[in-house]
Amino acid sequence: MAMRFPDTFLWGTATSAYQIEGAADVDGKGPSTWDTFCVQPGAIAHGDTGARACDHYHRYAEDVALMQSMGIQAYRFSVSWPRVMPTGRGEVNRAGLDFYDRLVDALCAAGIRPMVTLYHWDLPDALQRDIGGWAHRDIAPIFADYAEFMFKTLSDRVDLWITLNEPWCVVDGGYFNGVHAPGIKDRRLGYQVGHNLIRAHGAAVARFRSMSLDNAQIGFAVNTTFSYPATDTPADRAAAERAMLNFAGWFIEPMHFGDYPDVMRERLGSLLPTFTSEETASLRGGLDFLGLNYYFSDVVRHAPGEGEMELALIPQRDLPHTTMGWPITPDGLRLLLHWLAARYGLPIYITENGCALDDVADDAGRVDDPVRIRYLRDHIASVYAAVQSGVDVRGYFAWSLMDNFEWSLGYAKRFGLVRCDFETLQRTVKASGEWYAALIRANGLNPAARAESAV
Ligand code: NOJ
Repeated sequence: MAMRFPDTFLWGTATSAYQIEGAADVDGKGPSTWDTFCVQPGAIAHGDTGARACDHYHRYAEDVALMQSMGIQAYRFSVSWPRVMPTGRGEVNRAGLDFYDRLVDALCAAGIRPMVTLYHWDLPDALQRDIGGWAHRDIAPIFADYAEFMFKTLSDRVDLWITLNEPWCVVDGGYFNGVHAPGIKDRRLGYQVGHNLIRAHGAAVARFRSMSLDNAQIGFAVNTTFSYPATDTPADRAAAERAMLNFAGWFIEPMHFGDYPDVMRERLGSLLPTFTSEETASLRGGLDFLGLNYYFSDVVRHAPGEGEMELALIPQRDLPHTTMGWPITPDGLRLLLHWLAARYGLPIYITENGCALDDVADDAGRVDDPVRIRYLRDHIASVYAAVQSGVDVRGYFAWSLMDNFEWSLGYAKRFGLVRCDFETLQRTVKASGEWYAALIRANGLNPAARAESAV
């Protein structure tokens, strides 16, 4: 039996500004923390930077036409804050703003619905230098000013908004492990940064609500896994639940309920900052939907004495892995969707899902990638199963439209449905891109078909 999705289901692709735009110092754009981080020796694999990336800034019209030819219905992209406001506040860079104006116009003309992410990790470097970026409390109103400005500029054509992309990664990469900009390793500061990200989200949502935009919706994109308990013992089951609250719940719960999960408060003690009662009240109910970035799931056991959370991850060696080293766990997406729906009751968009593989291109640049097709098919089948049993999933955005700059791993990791040749910048639709186009035309999957022709 064919798996047909609801008629209103939205099929999209996703990207982010620093990963595809290039044009890092063109037309008045200010430097971002990633521009400065990438040039630090050893920060990025092979010394790569996002300075040119896919040069989408100059090729956006071609990219929109490509999406249109694939039948893509929605496109999630991010605005580079320092392109619009070179120092993060105050003066607006008209040329930078015009780029997003033109991009949104082109999308609308092509019948592609834009979903705009306001912050996908490229903080204006001036804010980092002047106030310490997300570590400073004032970042919340500063971000809200920028957000409000973007709402005013684009909300006549954009009705789906994401405040922050993966705040967990901003903290973990940028402040716990130092592998992402700004390259700091300070756990206590990391929790403060997480706190300010949540406060900034809340401040931006308050501005959004005050504008009473008809039918426009706002959320954030959470990255999380489903945690399978290693065994069926009560201790491992409790550990798995704790892991999910400490990962997904860290950001969702303050933005939805107004405070951190109890288990984080109890176990993290003074590491975790507190919200004022006014902040809690204004944060509560701040999400119209949840954006979910899903790549893989974990197996977790109770590990007495290991860190505040007493958790340990069990390697899943028997499973196939992507070139990111991530296990391929499509059924975890179904279980995660059920868990999120039961606990939070919010509509969900899958705002990212996809895999990096060692693609091999032929002389014409074409990539045959049955493993990616299977990955997408199996994850989309999980989404279908969740939808069938009543979970309110409204759309799916494949990560990514095209191969791009994978942060500290540079250009070696290819996630695209479209190949980008980083020498010539030529775009070539992969077999998976053609497969995804066929899936959109059919609005679903045919599970009986072979992976290579799954619709
Ligand atoms: C999540 C991030 O939002 C995106 O920027 C990144 O490229 C993908 N995951 C893959 O790692």
